[in-house]
Amino acid sequence: MGSGPSIPDVSVPRDRVVVVTGGNTGLGYEAAKHIAMMGATVIIACRSEQRAMEAIERMNKEFREAKERGEKNIIQDDKLNVEFMLLDLASLKSTMNFIAMFKSSGRKLHVLLCNAGVGLVVRGYTEDGYEMHFQVNYLGHFLLVAHLLPIMKQSGDDCRIVFVSSSAHEYGNFNLEKAQAKIETDYSRMKYYGNSKMYQIQHMSCLVRRLQDSNVSVTCLHPGIVATEINRNYSDMRCFHGMIRCMNNTGCFKSSYQGAITLIDAAVNPKWKGVNDVYFVKTKPAATASAARNKQYQEDLWKYSLHCLQDYLSDDVISALEGLK
Ligand SMILES: NC(=O)c1ccc[n+]([C@@H]2O[C@H](COP(=O)([O-])OP(=O)(O)OC[C@H]3O[C@@H](n4cnc5c(N)ncnc54)[C@H](OP(=O)(O)O)[C@@H]3O)[C@@H](O)[C@H]2O)c1
Repeated sequence: MGSGPSIPDVSVPRDRVVVVTGGNTGLGYEAAKHIAMMGATVIIACRSEQRAMEAIERMNKEFREAKERGEKNIIQDDKLNVEFMLLDLASLKSTMNFIAMFKSSGRKLHVLLCNAGVGLVVRGYTEDGYEMHFQVNYLGHFLLVAHLLPIMKQSGDDCRIVFVSSSAHEYGNFNLEKAQAKIETDYSRMKYYGNSKMYQIQHMSCLVRRLQDSNVSVTCLHPGIVATEINRNYSDMRCFHGMIRCMNNTGCFKSSYQGAITLIDAAVNPKWKGVNDVYFVKTKPAATASAARNKQYQEDLWKYSLHCLQDYLSDDVISALEGLK
C-alpha cells in the first residue's frame, strides 16, 4: 500500500457517539464504517432512508469479511453499532427535525463529522431560498452545530467537530452580497462550491474563538481528490468528463478508503485531542488560502449566518453559541 497516511490504530469505546452527515456513500461511508469497526456508536445522518439502510447492510457485510480475514484492531461483535437518522441539509425544517430527534434520544455526542456535501451543481436553490452549495455544505451544518454544541459541551472529554472542506476553497471569492448568486451571471459552479468550502474553514475559526477552554475542539480538512459519487453532480460538464477519464487512467484519484483516512484521523486519533483551528491535508496540518483566515470575513460570515437562521435560533441557543453561557 506504500507509505502514505494510514488509519490510526485505536479502539473507540462503544459509548462514544459519532454522527457522520452523508454517511451512506463516498468518504462518509468509509469513515462511518471504519470508526464503527473501531468500536464507536455511529449515526449516519442521511437524506434517503433506503440508501442509508443499504449502506448499513453493506458496512456489516464488509465488517464480517474483515473479521474473516483476521483484520487487526476491529471489534469482534456480531454487528456494527451503526444507525440511521433522517437529515436533508437542503431543508432547514428537516435539519431541525434531525436535531429534535437527536435531542430526544438523550444521547451524548462526541464527534460531529460534517461531511455531507454537493459539488459543482448547476445554479439551484433550496426550499429555504438559499443557493444549494451554500446551504447543504455550509449553512445546514451551521444550524446543526448551533443546536448540538450544548450537548457536546455536556458529553465529557475530547469532543470534536470536523468539517470536510476542500482545497477547492482556494477558488472561493468572498463576497457576501453575492453569496446567493441572485444574478445568474454571478454564478459559476467552481466559485460557489469553493465559497462553501471556504465558509466551512471560516466557521471553524469563528467557533474556536468562542470555544476557549472548552472540551470541544474544531478542525477541518481536505481529503484529497477522491473517486466518489460527487462526480454525478457534474456529469453534464463535458470538460470534466475528459479530465476525469484522464485522471482515472493515470491513477490520480484516491479511493474513498484512502480519502477517508484524513476524516477518520481527525475524528478519532488521540494525538489531535484538544487541537483546534487546523486544516488537515493527508492527516497533517496545512496552510489554507489567506481569505479563509481573514478574521473580518469570518466574523461577517458569522453575522450573516445568524441572520439567515434567525427563525431557527432562539436567544438561548445564540447565547450558548456565542460562549456567553
Ligand atoms: N471526492 C472528492 O474529491 C472531494 C474532495 C474534496 C472535498 N470533498 C468533500 O467531501 C465530502 C464528501 O463528498 P464525497 O466525495 O464522499 O461525495 P459523495 O460520494 O457524493 O457523497 C456525498 C454525501 O453527501 C450527501 N448529501 C448530499 N446532499 C445532501 C443533503 N441535502 N442532505 C444530506 N446529505 C446530503 C450524499 O447523500 P446522497 O447519497 O443521498 O446524495 C452523500 O451521502 C463533501 O463535503 C465534499 O465536498 C470531496
